[in-house]
Amino acid sequence: MALTALITGASTGLGAELARQIATKGVHLVLVARDGERLEGLAAELRGRHGIEAEALPADLTRAPDLERVAARLADRAHPIDILVNNAGFGVAAGFETSELDDERRLHELLSWVPLHLSHAAVPGMLERGYGWILNVASVAAFTPTGTYGAAKAATVSLSRSLNARYRRRGVHVTALCPGLLDTEFHARMGEDHLPRLPRLSWASTARVAHEGISAVRRGRSVVVSDWRYRLLAPLTHLLPDRLLERASTTNDGALN
Ligand SMILES: NC(=O)c1ccc[n+]([C@@H]2O[C@H](COP(=O)([O-])OP(=O)(O)OC[C@H]3O[C@@H](n4cnc5c(N)ncnc54)[C@H](OP(=O)(O)O)[C@@H]3O)[C@@H](O)[C@H]2O)c1
Repeated sequence: MALTALITGASTGLGAELARQIATKGVHLVLVARDGERLEGLAAELRGRHGIEAEALPADLTRAPDLERVAARLADRAHPIDILVNNAGFGVAAGFETSELDDERRLHELLSWVPLHLSHAAVPGMLERGYGWILNVASVAAFTPTGTYGAAKAATVSLSRSLNARYRRRGVHVTALCPGLLDTEFHARMGEDHLPRLPRLSWASTARVAHEGISAVRRGRSVVVSDWRYRLLAPLTHLLPDRLLERASTTNDGALN
């Protein structure tokens, strides 16, 4: 029987790439983001190309009623979700001392509370069925001093490790995917000033990161850094002082990710 995956933040970027790659495996899809038109377009493309069922479920996950609707879809025993991908995210451009507290709250909700809430909705059914996979998109920022964004991503890595250790023997695997810089809409949405001043070589491949995330979740790995260039750099996060790591993550307008 074909599996079904629910992917948040599937309207563009890494989430859309994950949807395209998961669809090639014959997995049915439920696509979640705010932009319903983009979701419908992708769902139609993937239905036509792979003969799968693909449904658009538009939702602003920082709005409680929308989040409850998506959680209810995950908990629906009549239409099981076998794979949950918590990918939706954004960054706050302003530095900590000038940012709007409401933006910080929405960031923490989307990056940390939403994956927890949706995992909480999905896990009981997965345990009943004896199998299930959760892929939480975190970031290498989880391992460096990168402001409130890194703090929220660190919470997601910690949750993933904990749930994976607790449930893997019962067939439910939880993986934190930690990408480096990706050339998606993420940075442009934060404003031109916020584009990282790093050479082209430091941008990871979105297709490669999606592929490595899917492969890690299939193998039941709890944390994967992606792609290769960030795996090479990862040991430096233990060696360099926070002062230097923090400077490396400072962008054109002086703010942190
Ligand atoms: N880009 C990077 O350099 C980078 C690096 C490491 C980790 N990441 C992480 O990778 C994930 C994907 O980011 P990306 O680079 O693909 O960014 P992106 O191109 O900006 O895509 C973000 C996705 O999240 C959705 N989204 C944003 N706010 C939402 C909300 N309130 N409710 C529901 N969906 C929402 C967006 O769709 P709508 O606008 O249609 O809602 C979009 O589909 C994020 O978790 C991000 O933190 C990114």
